[in-house]
Amino acid sequence: MGGHDTIAVVDNGGQFAHLISVVIRDRLKVRTVIVDPSSGPEDLSGVKGVVLSGGPDSIYKEGAVQLNPALLDLDVPFLGLCYGMHQIALRYGGNVEGSDHKEYGHAVLCREEDPIFKGVPDGDRVWMSHGDKVVALPDGFSVVGSTEGCPIAAFSDTRRKRWGFQFHPEVEDTLHGVEMLENFVLGICGAGQDWTAQRNTQEIEAYIRKEVGDRNVLCLVSGGVDSTVVAALLLRALPKERTRFIHVDTGMMRKDESALVMEALRDQGLTDLKVVDASDIYIRALEGISDPEEKRKRIGRLFIDIINREAGDASSSDWVLAQGTLYPDTIESGGTKHSDVIKTHHNRVDVIMRMLEEGRVIEPVRELYKAEVREVGSGLGLPPELVGRHPFPGPGLGIRALCQDPLTMKRNLEEARSLQGRIDELIAEDRWAGKKVRGVVLPVRSVGVKGDERSYEHPVALWLDGKRDWKGLKLFSTRFINRTRGINRCVLVISPEGPAGPLPLERYMTRERLDLLREADDIVMEGLRRYGLYDGIWQCPTVLVPVSFGGGEMVVIRPVWSERAMTAEVAELPDVYLKDVVPQLISLPGIGSVAVDVTSKPPGTIEWE
Ligand code: XMP
Repeated sequence: MGGHDTIAVVDNGGQFAHLISVVIRDRLKVRTVIVDPSSGPEDLSGVKGVVLSGGPDSIYKEGAVQLNPALLDLDVPFLGLCYGMHQIALRYGGNVEGSDHKEYGHAVLCREEDPIFKGVPDGDRVWMSHGDKVVALPDGFSVVGSTEGCPIAAFSDTRRKRWGFQFHPEVEDTLHGVEMLENFVLGICGAGQDWTAQRNTQEIEAYIRKEVGDRNVLCLVSGGVDSTVVAALLLRALPKERTRFIHVDTGMMRKDESALVMEALRDQGLTDLKVVDASDIYIRALEGISDPEEKRKRIGRLFIDIINREAGDASSSDWVLAQGTLYPDTIESGGTKHSDVIKTHHNRVDVIMRMLEEGRVIEPVRELYKAEVREVGSGLGLPPELVGRHPFPGPGLGIRALCQDPLTMKRNLEEARSLQGRIDELIAEDRWAGKKVRGVVLPVRSVGVKGDERSYEHPVALWLDGKRDWKGLKLFSTRFINRTRGINRCVLVISPEGPAGPLPLERYMTRERLDLLREADDIVMEGLRRYGLYDGIWQCPTVLVPVSFGGGEMVVIRPVWSERAMTAEVAELPDVYLKDVVPQLISLPGIGSVAVDVTSKPPGTIEWE
């Protein structure tokens, strides 16, 4: 999108660059672009300033990300953060000391007078996470901030317009971090604040009209936020007769999902959304199948058949495809280049592949983050319950109802029993878990990620004596899983109260079971909304697990907080919520127990399959 003042954020790896970019866009309303450290000055022409992000490695590590030295020849202000500060120091002849010892956490910043600290109090709290640090200043630079553990915590050379912080202003733990970024972006770089949802919406509409020209557009509406917002934008930008919208109801959607999407888009003027009810076909295709990969493959293949059938005539050259691809997925830079994002497999169908290969694809929200898409959607008048929805995987509830046949049940039970002795020992040896935790290996397997590999191992059900110590549980769970072969997940059982020998249940994908899971998912989600927890949680799958402690099967609630799903933290559920929701779940016919997943990603994944 043209005409905006822009700040470039150089991605030195990890999650830092996107976080900086989101803060600048969201809090300061200035456009950002994420760029690769190997970019040259010509790639950044016209930017108002550059932020060099932190990174996960030491600058001296073999294979560490290298900044193109010519980039610093650009005559615009630069702010280097952590790793980025080290890049600036080395480029101008300073010295950085490598260290294996990490300084991590809060520090108190004593600051000097400098434009970057305008309005920032002396003695402010900042957040540190580093091993290396600058130990000798380059010529022309002055120290403008120091902490107890880091004498050169901030430096500047106002003549060259170069600044560097050892700490991270982009995280909330740095109390006046946003003010520091504001001083840089608005004060020093002089960037204009025109990155607003309203202007983005107008520009996206112009983009759609220009890119589509006199062709037609096909849009697959999944029920998620991104494709629904794209559909609404297309409806505003183009005459109705030049658009076609298809929604496939797989029978594995959330409760009332198809109706919600249809209604929202009807309000946007869409009267002929083609809804393909394929639920019977999907359920039949999954009959008797328990292997998760096989389930995924079958669901994916069916989607191919259905879309090829329904949209086959859109493969001619007077059609383009509109996709809801977001900003983090459109850029390929240092930290994101090698990320393995599981997203697109649903869209790899012949008709779509052909359109992709021939460049007949438009991506109207390709410059936006999810939160910005939500803002655009709200501005268009889409209902809040749709705009604020948690992400939902393509295969839907199909990968949230685990299945077992007699053969897998037998194998899982044997494995679980053989692991139990070692699990008891490990729990007893653990300083935190010791006598207050009891654990039982479940006779079922779920997917996780260990190292860079997907794992398919057993969850352990935990019971904790006394008060629920979420923090302790989360730390224990990671420690425990990382040192134990054969297990990849921990769940805290809320009901029943005491451990009993779990048995595997024979269960497949049936309409009844999908309805049961849909109902359980609705209870979990409604509860999150009622207690004001929904918006603070990134995603909360509800999983149906075919093991029994003497009653029906188990429901697992999986609340996580994440940025873009590559990693995830367990989000805590308060007691009032559990006291309300768990009895409702237990009262569903066929449900015998309820647990909360307390596994981070890694070593768990967000979904169980
Ligand atoms: P995992 O389970 O790997 O999931 O931690 C990461 C994120 O991706 C979503 N997910 C999918 N999304 N098609 C999708 O569109 C899929 O097949 C798929 N599988 C997982 C998951 O919900 C989470 O947000």
